[in-house]
Amino acid sequence: MAGSSNVRHKTSLPEGVRVGTVMRIRGAVPDNAGRFHVNLLCDDQEGADAALHFNPRLGQSVVVFNTKEQGAWGKEERGHGLPFQRGQPFEVLLIATEEGFKTVVGDAEYHHFRYRIPPARVRAVEVGGDVEVQSLKIF
Ligand code: GAL
Repeated sequence: MAGSSNVRHKTSLPEGVRVGTVMRIRGAVPDNAGRFHVNLLCDDQEGADAALHFNPRLGQSVVVFNTKEQGAWGKEERGHGLPFQRGQPFEVLLIATEEGFKTVVGDAEYHHFRYRIPPARVRAVEVGGDVEVQSLKIF
């Protein structure tokens, strides 16, 4: 079942993302969470391309990584293990490196997603689905 807190948090990044940009999400996974996502979107419109779709799925115990271009999902990548638990707080860092988006969950590097869409095209960070967002910060 989908969680009760179907909130959306969106922050614009008018200057895009460059190597060294860190996006930090702090929050908690609701007890009944099904899935949530962090999307790095290339514009503010509905149906925007996503340079990164980071998608923890609690029911399936996976985190799916992907891009979306012109409405079509690309090839999925998956991290190893599920570093999220229902009912628990978390901190995720999405770090733009020379090669891709490095994801860090808690204290551990999780998965490094190689760029398919240049990070300079990113214009917004959006968090949605079954998640309680405490803060979304860009450094
Ligand atoms: C689909 C799902 C989308 C997205 C995508 C990622 O199956 O409906 O919401 O998560 O996978 O590849």
